[in-house]
Amino acid sequence: MASDDPHEDSAHEMPKYDYSATRRDFMLKLGIGINAIAGALVGIPIIGFFVSSIVKANQPTWVSLGSIDQFPENATRMAVFLNPYRTQADGATANVPCWVKRENGENFTVFAINCAHLGCPVRWFEQSKLFLCPCHGGAYYEDGSRAAGPPPRGLFVYENKVEKGELNIKAGLLPTLANPA
Ligand code: FES
Repeated sequence: MASDDPHEDSAHEMPKYDYSATRRDFMLKLGIGINAIAGALVGIPIIGFFVSSIVKANQPTWVSLGSIDQFPENATRMAVFLNPYRTQADGATANVPCWVKRENGENFTVFAINCAHLGCPVRWFEQSKLFLCPCHGGAYYEDGSRAAGPPPRGLFVYENKVEKGELNIKAGLLPTLANPA
């Protein structure tokens, strides 16, 4: 005998699946997955390029300034080195000057040529024993410490070492107040 209760039959019905919704979900997830893979394939090399250029720029490397014999004791001489991270577009600016002071024997101080104020190239004046900046009158003593003018500190110095009779400096970064050589 058939029941009058409308809920009794429905209790025995098989559950209904919304196949179209399931397929839509699958396609959506597949699309997201493919986009994620494509994004990674395109993005990783780009991110790698920028990260490697930052890492590279932050790794000064040893560069030779030549034989120590060219630097007399108790004297300051200019030396020029090739920027280890030069590009073709750098042209002559890849040649970076610096000031080398040979204290005695193998004891050197190598000053960056850039003024600690705004980076103009400083010049060494033997008579006055001063480095002078042509831009705003900054002056430094022979040990590179600040003497006068707007520079907030002394000249930047490069780390140096003597190997096989050659003077080497750690170069590759332009010294700045935030990033001393
Ligand atoms: S850049 Fe040298 S004093 Fe300003």
